[in-house]
Amino acid sequence: MKGLLASDGIFFLRTFLANPLRVAALLPSGKRLAAMVAAQIDPRPGGAVLELGPGTGAVTRAILESGIAPGEIAAIESDADFAAALRRDFGRIRIIEGDAFAFPSLLARAGVATPLRTIVSGIPVLSRSLGVRRKLLDDAMAALRPQGPFVQFSYGTEPPIPAGEGVDVRRAAIVWHNVPPMHVWVYRRALAA
Ligand SMILES: C[S@@+](CC[C@H](N)C(=O)[O-])C[C@H]1O[C@@H](n2cnc3c(N)ncnc32)[C@H](O)[C@@H]1O
Repeated sequence: MKGLLASDGIFFLRTFLANPLRVAALLPSGKRLAAMVAAQIDPRPGGAVLELGPGTGAVTRAILESGIAPGEIAAIESDADFAAALRRDFGRIRIIEGDAFAFPSLLARAGVATPLRTIVSGIPVLSRSLGVRRKLLDDAMAALRPQGPFVQFSYGTEPPIPAGEGVDVRRAAIVWHNVPPMHVWVYRRALAA
Protein backbone atom coordinates (compact mmCIF):
# COMPACT_ATOMS: atom_id res chain seq x y z
CA MET A 1 0.00 0.00 0.00
CA LYS A 2 1.51 3.34 -0.94
CA GLY A 3 1.36 6.45 1.28
CA LEU A 4 -0.42 9.71 0.54
CA LEU A 5 1.48 11.18 -2.41
CA ALA A 6 1.41 14.55 -4.17
CA SER A 7 0.72 12.52 -7.32
CA ASP A 8 -2.63 11.47 -5.74
CA GLY A 9 -3.58 15.16 -5.63
CA ILE A 10 -2.63 15.73 -9.26
CA PHE A 11 -4.44 12.57 -10.39
CA PHE A 12 -7.50 13.61 -8.36
CA LEU A 13 -7.52 17.15 -9.76
CA ARG A 14 -7.14 15.85 -13.33
CA THR A 15 -10.08 13.48 -12.82
CA PHE A 16 -12.14 16.32 -11.28
CA LEU A 17 -11.49 18.51 -14.34
CA ALA A 18 -12.64 15.68 -16.61
CA ASN A 19 -15.77 14.99 -14.56
CA PRO A 20 -16.50 17.76 -12.02
CA LEU A 21 -20.05 16.69 -11.10
CA ARG A 22 -19.09 13.12 -10.30
CA VAL A 23 -15.81 13.80 -8.48
CA ALA A 24 -17.23 16.91 -6.76
CA ALA A 25 -14.01 17.87 -4.94
CA LEU A 26 -10.73 19.42 -6.03
CA LEU A 27 -8.63 17.40 -3.60
CA PRO A 28 -8.82 14.02 -1.88
CA SER A 29 -9.99 14.07 1.74
CA GLY A 30 -7.39 15.13 4.29
CA LYS A 31 -6.05 12.74 6.93
CA ARG A 32 -8.20 14.17 9.74
CA LEU A 33 -11.42 13.78 7.81
CA ALA A 34 -10.46 10.30 6.65
CA ALA A 35 -9.60 9.25 10.23
CA MET A 36 -12.87 10.74 11.55
CA VAL A 37 -14.88 8.81 8.95
CA ALA A 38 -13.02 5.56 9.75
CA ALA A 39 -13.61 6.14 13.47
CA GLN A 40 -17.37 5.72 12.87
CA ILE A 41 -16.97 2.06 11.81
CA ASP A 42 -18.93 -0.30 14.04
CA PRO A 43 -16.34 -1.77 16.45
CA ARG A 44 -18.18 -5.11 16.65
CA PRO A 45 -16.33 -7.53 14.32
CA GLY A 46 -17.93 -9.47 11.47
CA GLY A 47 -19.43 -8.39 8.16
CA ALA A 48 -17.81 -6.35 5.42
CA VAL A 49 -17.13 -2.62 5.45
CA LEU A 50 -18.36 -1.06 2.20
CA GLU A 51 -16.89 2.19 0.89
CA LEU A 52 -18.76 4.19 -1.77
CA GLY A 53 -16.66 6.52 -3.95
CA PRO A 54 -13.11 5.83 -2.71
CA GLY A 55 -11.42 8.08 -5.30
CA THR A 56 -7.67 7.81 -4.76
CA GLY A 57 -8.16 5.92 -1.48
CA ALA A 58 -7.73 8.58 1.23
CA VAL A 59 -10.54 7.12 3.35
CA THR A 60 -9.64 3.56 2.31
CA ARG A 61 -6.18 4.04 3.87
CA ALA A 62 -7.73 5.33 7.09
CA ILE A 63 -10.05 2.31 7.21
CA LEU A 64 -7.03 0.00 6.93
CA GLU A 65 -5.15 2.03 9.55
CA SER A 66 -8.13 1.64 11.90
CA GLY A 67 -7.44 -2.10 11.90
CA ILE A 68 -9.93 -3.46 9.37
CA ALA A 69 -8.33 -6.22 7.27
CA PRO A 70 -8.22 -5.67 3.48
CA GLY A 71 -10.26 -8.84 2.92
CA GLU A 72 -13.11 -7.30 4.94
CA ILE A 73 -13.39 -4.19 2.74
CA ALA A 74 -15.26 -3.72 -0.54
CA ALA A 75 -15.32 -0.43 -2.45
CA ILE A 76 -17.47 0.80 -5.34
CA GLU A 77 -16.01 3.50 -7.60
CA SER A 78 -17.61 4.75 -10.83
CA ASP A 79 -14.49 6.27 -12.39
CA ALA A 80 -12.55 3.67 -14.40
CA ASP A 81 -9.14 5.34 -13.86
CA PHE A 82 -9.66 5.61 -10.10
CA ALA A 83 -10.86 1.99 -9.98
CA ALA A 84 -7.76 0.76 -11.88
CA ALA A 85 -5.41 2.74 -9.60
CA LEU A 86 -7.20 1.43 -6.48
CA ARG A 87 -6.81 -2.16 -7.70
CA ARG A 88 -3.10 -1.51 -8.16
CA ASP A 89 -2.63 0.21 -4.78
CA PHE A 90 -4.94 -1.89 -2.58
CA GLY A 91 -4.52 -5.39 -4.02
CA ARG A 92 -6.55 -7.34 -1.47
CA ILE A 93 -9.52 -4.98 -1.22
CA ARG A 94 -12.45 -5.85 -3.51
CA ILE A 95 -12.71 -2.91 -5.88
CA ILE A 96 -15.94 -2.88 -7.88
CA GLU A 97 -16.26 -0.45 -10.77
CA GLY A 98 -19.85 0.78 -11.01
CA ASP A 99 -22.59 3.06 -9.75
CA ALA A 100 -22.77 3.20 -5.96
CA PHE A 101 -26.51 3.97 -6.16
CA ALA A 102 -26.92 0.40 -7.46
CA PHE A 103 -24.74 -1.09 -4.72
CA PRO A 104 -27.06 -3.97 -3.66
CA SER A 105 -26.95 -5.64 -7.09
CA LEU A 106 -23.21 -4.91 -7.52
CA LEU A 107 -22.45 -6.53 -4.15
CA ALA A 108 -24.60 -9.56 -4.97
CA ARG A 109 -22.82 -10.00 -8.32
CA ALA A 110 -19.40 -9.67 -6.64
CA GLY A 111 -20.34 -12.19 -3.95
CA VAL A 112 -20.04 -9.74 -1.05
CA ALA A 113 -22.28 -11.05 1.72
CA THR A 114 -24.70 -8.93 3.71
CA PRO A 115 -25.45 -7.83 6.36
CA LEU A 116 -22.65 -5.28 6.23
CA ARG A 117 -20.77 -3.97 9.24
CA THR A 118 -20.67 -0.34 8.08
CA ILE A 119 -21.05 1.71 4.88
CA VAL A 120 -18.89 4.82 4.46
CA SER A 121 -19.68 7.14 1.60
CA GLY A 122 -17.96 10.11 0.00
CA ILE A 123 -20.06 10.14 -3.16
CA PRO A 124 -21.76 13.44 -3.96
CA VAL A 125 -25.44 13.03 -3.07
CA LEU A 126 -26.75 16.60 -2.98
CA SER A 127 -26.83 16.76 -6.79
CA ARG A 128 -29.26 13.80 -6.83
CA SER A 129 -33.03 13.95 -6.50
CA LEU A 130 -34.57 13.39 -3.09
CA GLY A 131 -36.03 10.11 -4.33
CA VAL A 132 -32.63 8.79 -5.40
CA ARG A 133 -31.07 9.86 -2.09
CA ARG A 134 -33.88 8.26 -0.08
CA LYS A 135 -33.50 5.00 -2.01
CA LEU A 136 -29.77 4.98 -1.25
CA LEU A 137 -30.51 5.38 2.46
CA ASP A 138 -33.25 2.72 2.39
CA ASP A 139 -30.93 0.30 0.58
CA ALA A 140 -28.18 1.06 3.09
CA MET A 141 -30.45 0.41 6.09
CA ALA A 142 -31.58 -2.87 4.50
CA ALA A 143 -28.01 -4.01 3.80
CA LEU A 144 -26.55 -3.12 7.20
CA ARG A 145 -26.84 -5.22 10.32
CA PRO A 146 -28.99 -3.76 13.12
CA GLN A 147 -27.33 -0.56 14.38
CA GLY A 148 -24.68 -0.76 11.67
CA PRO A 149 -23.90 2.83 10.62
CA PHE A 150 -24.19 4.49 7.21
CA VAL A 151 -21.58 7.27 7.27
CA GLN A 152 -21.86 10.05 4.68
CA PHE A 153 -19.59 13.09 4.57
CA SER A 154 -20.83 16.27 2.99
CA TYR A 155 -20.13 20.03 2.76
CA GLY A 156 -23.67 20.93 3.82
CA THR A 157 -24.68 21.98 7.32
CA GLU A 158 -27.88 19.87 7.13
CA PRO A 159 -28.02 16.08 6.76
CA PRO A 160 -27.57 15.46 3.01
CA ILE A 161 -30.31 12.81 3.08
CA PRO A 162 -33.38 13.43 5.26
CA ALA A 163 -33.46 10.58 7.77
CA GLY A 164 -37.14 9.74 7.39
CA GLU A 165 -39.22 7.37 9.47
CA GLY A 166 -37.36 4.67 11.38
CA VAL A 167 -33.90 6.19 10.86
CA ASP A 168 -31.86 8.42 13.18
CA VAL A 169 -29.15 10.77 11.94
CA ARG A 170 -26.52 12.62 13.93
CA ARG A 171 -23.55 14.76 13.01
CA ALA A 172 -20.49 12.94 14.35
CA ALA A 173 -18.06 15.76 13.55
CA ILE A 174 -17.28 18.91 11.62
CA VAL A 175 -13.74 18.63 10.30
CA TRP A 176 -12.65 22.27 9.98
CA HIS A 177 -9.13 21.31 8.92
CA ASN A 178 -10.35 19.77 5.69
CA VAL A 179 -10.43 21.79 2.46
CA PRO A 180 -13.34 22.52 2.39
CA PRO A 181 -14.59 21.85 5.96
CA MET A 182 -16.67 18.71 5.98
CA HIS A 183 -19.57 17.39 8.06
CA VAL A 184 -19.61 13.70 8.96
CA TRP A 185 -23.16 12.32 9.23
CA VAL A 186 -24.04 8.96 10.76
CA TYR A 187 -27.38 7.26 10.00
CA ARG A 188 -28.69 4.26 11.93
CA ARG A 189 -31.96 2.43 12.21
CA ALA A 190 -33.90 3.99 15.07
CA LEU A 191 -34.20 1.86 18.19
CA ALA A 192 -37.77 0.78 18.83
CA ALA A 193 -39.39 2.88 21.56
C1 LIG B 1 -15.68 13.80 -3.30
S1 LIG B 1 -14.83 12.46 -4.09
C2 LIG B 1 -14.29 11.57 -2.63
C3 LIG B 1 -13.13 10.65 -2.89
C4 LIG B 1 -12.54 9.98 -1.65
N1 LIG B 1 -13.53 9.19 -0.93
C5 LIG B 1 -11.93 10.98 -0.71
O1 LIG B 1 -12.51 11.16 0.37
O2 LIG B 1 -10.90 11.58 -1.04
C6 LIG B 1 -16.18 11.50 -4.74
C7 LIG B 1 -15.80 10.15 -5.29
O3 LIG B 1 -16.98 9.41 -5.57
C8 LIG B 1 -16.92 8.88 -6.88
N2 LIG B 1 -18.32 8.78 -7.34
C9 LIG B 1 -19.17 9.78 -7.63
N3 LIG B 1 -20.38 9.31 -7.95
C10 LIG B 1 -20.30 7.96 -7.85
C11 LIG B 1 -21.22 6.90 -8.03
N4 LIG B 1 -22.49 7.13 -8.41
N5 LIG B 1 -20.80 5.64 -7.83
C12 LIG B 1 -19.52 5.39 -7.44
N6 LIG B 1 -18.60 6.34 -7.25
C13 LIG B 1 -18.98 7.62 -7.44
C14 LIG B 1 -16.07 9.87 -7.66
O4 LIG B 1 -15.53 9.29 -8.83
C15 LIG B 1 -15.02 10.20 -6.61
O5 LIG B 1 -14.03 9.23 -6.59
